[in-house]
Amino acid sequence: MLAAAARRAGTASTEYDMPPGCLALRRALARRALDWGVKILPEEIITTCGCTEAIVLCLRSVTRSGDTVAIESPTYFGLIQIIEQLGLRPLEIPTHPRTGMDLDGLERALRVRRVTACLVVPNFNNPLGSLMPVANKARLVALLAKKEIPLIEDDLYGDLYFDNGDRPHVAKAYDKRGLVMLCGSFSKSLAPGYRVGWMMPGRYFEAARNLKCATTGATPRCRSLLSRITSSTADMIII
Ligand SMILES: Cc1ncc(COP(=O)(O)O)c(C=O)c1O
Repeated sequence: MLAAAARRAGTASTEYDMPPGCLALRRALARRALDWGVKILPEEIITTCGCTEAIVLCLRSVTRSGDTVAIESPTYFGLIQIIEQLGLRPLEIPTHPRTGMDLDGLERALRVRRVTACLVVPNFNNPLGSLMPVANKARLVALLAKKEIPLIEDDLYGDLYFDNGDRPHVAKAYDKRGLVMLCGSFSKSLAPGYRVGWMMPGRYFEAARNLKCATTGATPRCRSLLSRITSSTADMIII
């Protein structure tokens, strides 16, 4: 299937894919985002090399070395490595194995600490697997919006739900002010080696795109092969 898709894509698959990236993929992502509770235009999406690059660029867009970033405790070690590499200070907020970040704890921390950004994995946090309830997602967004603190939301695992119900919404679904920077990739639902990721950086779009241009510039064009992904993970196919 990949060979057939590569033949069909022709030279398009070997040219630079400059930010914001492959339009067909961004259109497919905008359609998929409806399942996450997010109405977004393809023009508001930037493709990246995996979720890691999206998170790095979002953090760099809104922080400077020495700033404090609130995170879940425990969280994915890679996120702590990124924070340390950027010279940022992690502020660990206790996290419940079922409901995610303790929002009372976050509220208390925001009263006494100057927090520049918050980095959270609301849907199936790694390593806990916690799923933040809808009301908590809305409260998290509102809490941070009061202080104009950007929320970097890592939704890498959102598609991996096993209930018969709907896919869990993202916190960005409750964002009215463009402060939530949603990051994701197909690393856990298709294959990590494709390095197909994206960011939806809200009001920080320009800063994030400029950083992307100056960091990796183009992204591998093969991601356009994934542009026909259907909206359901179960049906996910590469045509
Ligand atoms: C919570 C979380 N975010 C990001 C990543 C990295 O994602 P990617 O491979 O798309 O860069 C991982 C990888 O395990 C992860 O667990």
